[in-house]
Amino acid sequence: SSGLVIPRAGVDLGHPDTYADGVPYEVFARLRDEAPVAWVDEPPYKGFDGGPGFWAVTRHADINEVSRHPEVHSSHAGATFLRDQRPRDLAALQQMMLNLDPPDHSKLRKIVSRVFTPKMVNGMLESVERYAHEIVDGLEPDTEIDLVAKVSAEMPLMVLADLLGVPRSERHLLYSWTNRMVGLDDPAYGGRAAFLSAFQEMFAFAEEQTEIRRRDPGDDVWSLIVNAEVDGERLSTDELQRFFQLLMIAGNETTRNLLTGAVITLDQHPDQWAQLRANPDLLKVAIEEILRFHPPVMQFRRTAVTDAELGGQHIAAGDKVVMFYVSGNRDEAVFDEPDRFDIHRNPANHVAFGSGTHFCLGNSLARLEVRVLLSELFARFPQMRVAGPPARFRSNFINGYRELPVALGPAAA
Ligand code: HEM
Repeated sequence: SSGLVIPRAGVDLGHPDTYADGVPYEVFARLRDEAPVAWVDEPPYKGFDGGPGFWAVTRHADINEVSRHPEVHSSHAGATFLRDQRPRDLAALQQMMLNLDPPDHSKLRKIVSRVFTPKMVNGMLESVERYAHEIVDGLEPDTEIDLVAKVSAEMPLMVLADLLGVPRSERHLLYSWTNRMVGLDDPAYGGRAAFLSAFQEMFAFAEEQTEIRRRDPGDDVWSLIVNAEVDGERLSTDELQRFFQLLMIAGNETTRNLLTGAVITLDQHPDQWAQLRANPDLLKVAIEEILRFHPPVMQFRRTAVTDAELGGQHIAAGDKVVMFYVSGNRDEAVFDEPDRFDIHRNPANHVAFGSGTHFCLGNSLARLEVRVLLSELFARFPQMRVAGPPARFRSNFINGYRELPVALGPAAA
C-alpha cells in the first residue's frame, strides 16, 4: 500500500543460477541485517508458480514463527514450488502430507508416525551397517571416484528400497525418478519431458507396489503404511501414491546431498576432519554442525491465508512466504560466529529439518544413515580427499551436487 517501504532483496533468490557456485551467504547476511523479511520482485525467471513474487524470510526467529503457525502460513498452495506449475499438478500435490495443514495433515502424520518410530529406525541399524560395508567394500583403493554415484547416492537408495519394499535390483529406478522430478531446472536431467515421464513411471510402479502389499503384506514399512488404519480409515490409493513419491524424494535428494556436503565441508576444514578420524565418537555431534553449516534443503515455502505482520512487514493474504533455512542456520542472533565451522558446537536448534508442524519425519533415519556411512568410509580410507571441483545440481531448492571427484588413497590396514 502507499507510503509503505518494502525492503527488496535486490537479488533474484528464486533463480537457480543464484546458487550456481553455492549458497550466497553474504547476501543472506546482509538481508538478515537490513531487510530480514524482504520482497523478491516478480522474477524474470518463472519459478514460484510464475506469481508476482515472494517474501524472503531470513532470520531464525521468523522462520520458526512461520513454520509454527500453519493457520496463518499455509502449506496448501504448495510447500515446494515447481516451475510452470499448473493447477492440475497442484491438485495432485495437495494430497501429499507436505502440502496439507492441520487437521488434514494431522490425520496423515498420525498414520505414518505410527510406523516411523524411533524403534523402527533403531531396528534399521543393522541393515544400515551392512549397506555401509557393502558400499565401501565396492571401492578400489588408490583410485579416483565420483563420490555421488558410488557412495552418497547408494545409501539412501538401499534404505528406501527396504522401506518401500522395492526389489533391490530396481533401486536405481528411484534414483532416476527423483533426479528427474527435482531436476526440472537442471538440463543434465532432461527437462520437462523427462520430468513428466518420471511421474508416469513412478505412479504406475507405486500403484503396483501398493496392490502387491495390500494382497500380501511383507514386513517392510510400505506394507505397514498401506494397511495402517486410524479411526477406521486407511489411506486411499491416490494418497498412497503421493506418499510413495514424498518418501522417495524426501529420503533421497536430502540424505545424498548431506553426505556429499559433509565430505566437501570437511575437506575445507582438514584439522577438524583429522579430529573426526582420530575420534569417530565425535561424528554424531559433527553431523549436527554439518547440517547447520551446509543444509541440503535451502528453503520451503508457505502462503499467507490471512493478513499478518512478520519482521515489521505487512504480509497480505495470498502472499508467498519463503523460509530460507540456509540463512536461519547462519543467524548471528542464535549462533556465535555463524560462519565458523566447528564440529564441537552441537547446534541443537538448527533448522535444516525445518521446524513446527512439518518437522522432518525422516530426521533420525537420515542421521543414522549419514553417521554409519561416514564412519565406515573415513575408517577405511583415512587419506581420502576431494580431487577436483564438484558439479553443482542446478536448483533453487536442493543445495546439492551431481558429481564430486574424490581420491580415495590407500585402504587402512
Ligand atoms: C519434511 C529436510 C531426510 C521424510 C522435511 C522438511 C525439511 C526436511 C526441511 C520440512 C518441510 C516443510 O516444512 O514444509 C530433510 C533433510 C534430510 C531429510 C535435510 C536429510 C538430511 C528425510 C528422510 C525421509 C524424510 C530420510 C524419509 C525417508 C520427510 C517427510 C516430510 C519431511 C515425509 C514431511 C513431513 C510433514 O509434512 O509433516 N524434511 N529431510 N526426510 N521429510 Fe525430511
